[in-house]
Amino acid sequence: MNSESMMKVYIETYGCQMNLADTEIVLGILSRSGYSHTNNEEEADVVLLNTCSIREHAEEKIRQRLGKLKRRKTSKPELIVGVLGCMAERFRDTLLEKHTVDVVVGPDEYRRLPQLVEKAIYGVKGVGVRLSRTETYDDIIPLRHEGISAWIAVMRGCDKFCTFCVVPFTRGRERSRSLDSIVKEVEQLTLNGVREVTLLGQNVNSYRDSNHDFADLLKAVALVDSSLWVRFTTSNPQDMSNKLIDTIAKYDNVCKYIHLPVQSGSDRILDKMNRAYTRDHYVHLVRKIREVIPNVAITTDIIVGFPTETEDDHLRTISLMEEIEFDGAYMFKYSPREGTPAFKLGDDIPEFVKTRRLGEIISLQQKISQEKNNSLVGCILDVMVDGPSKKSDLQLSGRTTTNKTVVFSSNNVQPGNVVKVNIESASSATLFGRIEE
Ligand code: 5AD
Ligand code: SF4
Repeated sequence: MNSESMMKVYIETYGCQMNLADTEIVLGILSRSGYSHTNNEEEADVVLLNTCSIREHAEEKIRQRLGKLKRRKTSKPELIVGVLGCMAERFRDTLLEKHTVDVVVGPDEYRRLPQLVEKAIYGVKGVGVRLSRTETYDDIIPLRHEGISAWIAVMRGCDKFCTFCVVPFTRGRERSRSLDSIVKEVEQLTLNGVREVTLLGQNVNSYRDSNHDFADLLKAVALVDSSLWVRFTTSNPQDMSNKLIDTIAKYDNVCKYIHLPVQSGSDRILDKMNRAYTRDHYVHLVRKIREVIPNVAITTDIIVGFPTETEDDHLRTISLMEEIEFDGAYMFKYSPREGTPAFKLGDDIPEFVKTRRLGEIISLQQKISQEKNNSLVGCILDVMVDGPSKKSDLQLSGRTTTNKTVVFSSNNVQPGNVVKVNIESASSATLFGRIEE
């Protein structure tokens, strides 16, 4: 097939980094079957949305997008519209009927996409929403954007069943790729100029390949190339072993950054969330991590307004944040998800209370992040260059091993270079400095 007659696919990705990695897998699968990728929606024959169900707001955005696509189909009836990802699992029937989507494919059935799109071209809806206990797309070569950073999904699914979360239902059971295939992929990526890899999984540290655990994988990836920066996310407090903490400390190129969602500072709420740890256990874990890995950065996720959350529970979350002093936090209002155990508890915290509680923790975290960043002023930090900064082409932006964004000026460095930057000032989200030349 020459490139003129190839079907062109345009894909939009919503939600987490797992979805970004899945989009690259989807494009890898489709390109193997003769589809070409386009960034221009106007010229696409197939428009795919890789969707997220984590909170109501995420789903609402996609419903609106589907409304627009439905209108577009009236002027271009041959356009194939597909929904991938978590919403495909949850809303197969409404998507097909109400939203007149042609293809609905969940996270474990992407291999069938070429065949299902083909069916849709002939007017038969293409549906693949079975979850798998084994699918890891181990042998698929993702179609990645050129660049210095690469995502690698090393495990899929989640077995933790936090009561608020849809992921165990939309992404199914945990399973891991083989260590050997991941190491081979990393070797190839370094040959292609990649300078930073991020190992991804919903619970990345519960990775297991026969007798290898996540610490073994991290070590094996770190040893591929001592100048490659290795990141990983998201870590679950339940699977944060001493061996893993030691491994992060031991290898210089394993980034000193751990995203470790706590969700709440109240034991009563943690129990209702089925998080399987207490506040005390979490505090000790962080203490241990900080002892073994000096200057490590720890960030977290927090939910306010979980069913039955009292003012006292909320104050416990605030005091935990003051005690730990996270480097950063993603903070959310609880969003009831039908089908999860917490849904049955109702959604009894009024919206205005959720809004106030969220505002309180956001301003507290901003103050803590600002103080943490201020303490870095005067330090010289290693920064891996990403490219021009968001605000000005005259400035460059990069990240430290602790995942802090640094903006600085220089005209003779390239993306992927590691440079020393003298930090001169800080906001709560960014460090600003001068390159040491
Ligand atoms: N409501 C609000 N936040 C949620 N998260 C997961 N499910 C929900 C929900 N129902 C948050 C958690 C998780 C992050 C990825 O999203 O904090 O760690
Ligand atoms: Fe959801 Fe909990 Fe699994 Fe994270 S660990 S994906 S919050 S169920």
